[in-house]
Amino acid sequence: MQFEYPHIKTIIEPFRIKSLEPIFFTTPQERQQALAAAGYNPFRLHADQVLIDLLTDSGTGAMSARQWAGMISSDESYAGASSFYRFEAAVKDITGFKHVIPTHQGRAAEHILFTMLVDSSKTVLNNTHFDTTRANIEALRGQALDLVIPEGRQPQTLHPFKGNIDLGALRAAIERIGPANIPLVMITVTNNSGGGQPVSMANIRAASAIAHEYGLPFFIDACRFAENSWFIKTREDGYADKAPIDIAREMFSYADGCTMSAKKDGMANIGGFLAMNNDELAQRCRNLEILTEGFPTYGGMAGYDLEAIALGLYEALNPDYLRYRIRSIEYLGEKLTAAGIPIVRPTGGHALYIDARAMLPHIALEHYPAWSLNNALYLMGGIRGVEIGSVMFGLQPDGSEKPAAMDLVRLAFPRRVYTQSHVDYMVEICAAINQQREKVTGHRIVWQAPVLRHFTVQMQPLP
Ligand code: F0G
Repeated sequence: MQFEYPHIKTIIEPFRIKSLEPIFFTTPQERQQALAAAGYNPFRLHADQVLIDLLTDSGTGAMSARQWAGMISSDESYAGASSFYRFEAAVKDITGFKHVIPTHQGRAAEHILFTMLVDSSKTVLNNTHFDTTRANIEALRGQALDLVIPEGRQPQTLHPFKGNIDLGALRAAIERIGPANIPLVMITVTNNSGGGQPVSMANIRAASAIAHEYGLPFFIDACRFAENSWFIKTREDGYADKAPIDIAREMFSYADGCTMSAKKDGMANIGGFLAMNNDELAQRCRNLEILTEGFPTYGGMAGYDLEAIALGLYEALNPDYLRYRIRSIEYLGEKLTAAGIPIVRPTGGHALYIDARAMLPHIALEHYPAWSLNNALYLMGGIRGVEIGSVMFGLQPDGSEKPAAMDLVRLAFPRRVYTQSHVDYMVEICAAINQQREKVTGHRIVWQAPVLRHFTVQMQPLP
């Protein structure tokens, strides 16, 4: 058969399913009761009350048969386990950093690093701090300053690298605050809180150069480094023919270290690391690690977690996987846009963000439009997303309340878990809410914790 082979447009899941996990259907009445019992906070739902769980892409991915095989042959020795050396070799191969300090998850790496560097006189600069990053800095009485480009705060403005740090603002902030009061400059790839938006190689290179000009260390919050590499490959001149792993290596080459949650692009259910080149800082970090995480060759992880990450970091960089991953979110974005639902555009790496402020203009900002939309998604279709808005970011360190820059609902995709028909179902549920959007009511806070309040807050829907 002498076919001509056309360009096939359908991008398929690059795996087949060997092991199954049921999902749980509920009635609207059951969901009403469950949400009320959870204090109208989806974080407090039991996961078996949720049909499609898009709360986070963190630790929720499916592992490959190879990862499971690696786990069964792990070395659980307390000190010097061969699993650690496989993990360390993988991290060094991809990042190039000299010291690899394992931690039980990303925020533990942040906690150790900032404990060494931050006090009340210090300000950390970043494109956008993730909530745990900000909270770890503020817990040490430091300041966390977000310097993303203006486009990064405008949901509808198209820009290929909306996660870029504003280079002019970075330089101005260093001049204003003074390098002595800035322990490090960070860049978060992709920019989670700003919509899962990528950062370009040119921006990483330039931000690194500015930091180094003032003698400041430059660290990458690397949770989604593989997804960021794919965006550089597909959107930035000069990278189309490069492999994601080489793009990742170049990104890390501009940095002095990184914090990492292996629950994202480590393709693992738990784990993380702190990596850096500075010998003296690494030694001090390891001393604290022993106190809070464990011996430096396991850092709060089991040997099998180290094995899962050692393989997962490479699987996350597989081009077939990344093509499917980024496409699934883009596909949802195209369908929601066609249904007239305002989303952050272009779609990001790990999640789709609905612009709840634009979709529900009848809900006042102090009644939390994104929180309200997220609850509507659960009631309508058993979908659980997460509010990235004023409940998450609105409480100021002095106890006052200020609306966040945006009110978004994040639908985060666990890695290799849901298929296209799940996405089609999401579209139908979102469209059904959009058709009756004036029926979505705001919420008020009944009880809140002083930090990271969104995890435990109790709410009441307004009539
Ligand atoms: N940095 C970024 C950019 C993150 O997205 C996260 C976690 C962390 C640091 C902290 O890592 O959870 O392993 O301690 N983000 C998750 C999320 C929780 O849902 O986006 P961790």
